[in-house]
Amino acid sequence: MRVLLCDDDLGRWAPGHVGTMDPEALALAYAYPELTEGQSWVRANFISSLDGAAAGDDGRSASLNTGADRDVFALLRALSDVILVGAGTARIEGYQRATVRPPWLEHRAGRPAHPTVAVVSRSGDVPPQLSRARDNAGEVLLVTCERAGNEAVDLARRTLGEGNVIVEGEASVDLASALDALASRGLRRILCEGGPHLMRDLTASGRLDELCLTLAPTLVAGDHPRITAGASVTANLLPRLLIESQGTILGRWSRP
Ligand SMILES: NC(=O)c1ccc[n+]([C@@H]2O[C@H](COP(=O)([O-])OP(=O)(O)OC[C@H]3O[C@@H](n4cnc5c(N)ncnc54)[C@H](OP(=O)(O)O)[C@@H]3O)[C@@H](O)[C@H]2O)c1
Repeated sequence: MRVLLCDDDLGRWAPGHVGTMDPEALALAYAYPELTEGQSWVRANFISSLDGAAAGDDGRSASLNTGADRDVFALLRALSDVILVGAGTARIEGYQRATVRPPWLEHRAGRPAHPTVAVVSRSGDVPPQLSRARDNAGEVLLVTCERAGNEAVDLARRTLGEGNVIVEGEASVDLASALDALASRGLRRILCEGGPHLMRDLTASGRLDELCLTLAPTLVAGDHPRITAGASVTANLLPRLLIESQGTILGRWSRP
């Protein structure tokens, strides 16, 4: 891996690491900023083809993945307290409870061994593979809204645990309130793994601090989703870090 650009006043990455992006340097490059009491940081992570597709012909993002992207995907999970994911992505991508593996385990010191997955759903329908118990894996929370109705919320409480359901908002999840609810549980390093509809709503909420975007060196054409979907919303971000690895470009973009 080689660093193409580093203009970062947020992380703890040192320029001396240029050209030597071993796991330790990579972890510093993607470190969350120091957070003050009660503050949280919302980072999103996506992969896109060169022509802007967020999924390949199988309807999943896995067909776009490269080795460098898989490494950073796993690292970002290890650095996070909670993985926020839309129910659509959780269903399509077959999400399970999260597990952190070597070489990233050391980043869990002083925290639960694995990050929590918080699945965002309007219907309150938790994908079954997330409800299922999994050895040596993180917790699951449902983040939903009034529209889900009592039956779905009660079912989720019985399945996931009484305290593992957050209800914020009416027709849709009020993401700003939901992020505050996560922070009040100590889940302040937030990693949103999409998908496009959740990413759009997160952008509209004004609470997106940072986008980690992998550009896969591939054209796929076809009719595929982009990394955002839904009504227009604009957020301007600045490049903080660009890394190249075997043709894959990995970047961190954050608020000015
Ligand atoms: N390239 C990448 O990095 C990447 C990352 C993630 C996903 N993807 C791709 O994106 C596609 C899926 O797209 P998608 O837009 O359907 O994904 P999504 O945003 O994960 O799922 C949409 C669903 O999430 C819930 N949701 C989202 N925002 C909500 C809000 N504000 N309030 C309440 N519920 C909310 C709703 O769930 P309910 O239906 O349960 O109400 C909604 O139907 C797949 O092809 C996947 O592979 C790509």
